[in-house]
Amino acid sequence: MKGLILAGGKGTRLRPLTINTPKPIVPVANSPFLLYQIDLMKSGGIEEVILSLSYQPRKIEDLLKDGMDYGTHIRYAVEGTPLGTGGAFKNAEEWIDSTTVVFNGDVLTSISLGAVIAEHRKRGAIATLVLTPVENPSAYGLVETSPDGWVKRFVEKPGPDEITCNTINAGIYVLEPSVLRYMPKGEAYSFERGLFPALLENKEPVLSYVLDKYWIDIGTPQKYLEVHHDILAGKFTSTRVARSLLDRGSLPAGVVIDEKSIIDEGVTIRGGVRIENSVIGRNCKIDEGAQIIDSVIWSGNTIDAEARVIRSIVGKGCYIGRSATLKAGVVLGDKSVVTDYSVL
Ligand code: GDD
Ligand code: MG
Repeated sequence: MKGLILAGGKGTRLRPLTINTPKPIVPVANSPFLLYQIDLMKSGGIEEVILSLSYQPRKIEDLLKDGMDYGTHIRYAVEGTPLGTGGAFKNAEEWIDSTTVVFNGDVLTSISLGAVIAEHRKRGAIATLVLTPVENPSAYGLVETSPDGWVKRFVEKPGPDEITCNTINAGIYVLEPSVLRYMPKGEAYSFERGLFPALLENKEPVLSYVLDKYWIDIGTPQKYLEVHHDILAGKFTSTRVARSLLDRGSLPAGVVIDEKSIIDEGVTIRGGVRIENSVIGRNCKIDEGAQIIDSVIWSGNTIDAEARVIRSIVGKGCYIGRSATLKAGVVLGDKSVVTDYSVL
């Protein structure tokens, strides 16, 4: 068994956060995102993972190296120009010599991978697609199945008149190496628009596995905030979720921090600060009377006195001036400066 993680997209919908930090390693509850996926691969018995990269590969390689620190073995398949999801898989062909589990590099789930692999084998599928129900499939790949679970139709980003069911592609596949013969080499190719429709057209056995566990694509600021709120509410649990390292015994007067917020090491908190339902990265400085509510704050930020950050995301090393207000939905890129008293 092999694992391959598609982690080469540019993460445009998460800009400006992804200008300096590629989406696969944006922090989720203060841990690089890919570590959650590597853990998941390990839970399914996969200890050799191919990381398929294109955008800012060095940053990812420098962090994860050969994988030893995370109890796995990582190989890198880097594309000069992005080849699309299928092209990226084909690009790693030389290492794909057995059944391979593929993840989109931006989905977080508590799937039981072992159960999916077992079902794939039992039913003799060439490909098994994990599906999850969503309210509105339009931003995803819609997958229609027959009552016995075989996939009938795959429509990527369906238009309003193409929405015939609520199950979508969760971006997790079990693939036999024989699918490679349907895929062109060295050119852009898509799993969703190319391979899956081609397999169905050729009457290949494509199975579905409907997930009834937590699942989210973290690829937009709204979803990125949502995953943090879900983690803080206990809807998703993992040993990767950083513990709060706040020393409550040494807090100055008037500080109110709820139990669920996660505060990393080296964070300075001054008197009268209020923090609620938020995640704060290491070495931030939060000055007198500042408020951080429902927000995600990366490392090395200074939030000056009486500033308010509400339902917002703050990248690394920003300065938020005295009495400034960030209201719902603000996303600040690294090193942003918000002048005193500004309202965003
Ligand atoms: N190596 C490589 N090369 N990776 C790529 C490339 C590429 O050219 N293009 C995209 N990827 C990676 C992205 O980094 C991401 O992890 C994954 O492939 C999927 O790309 P997204 O851009 O996030 O796609 P999406 O979210 O719009 O849609 C996909 O995911 C949905 C589930 O979240 C599709 O697979 C949908 O069918 C699916 O429902
Ligand atoms: Mg995505």
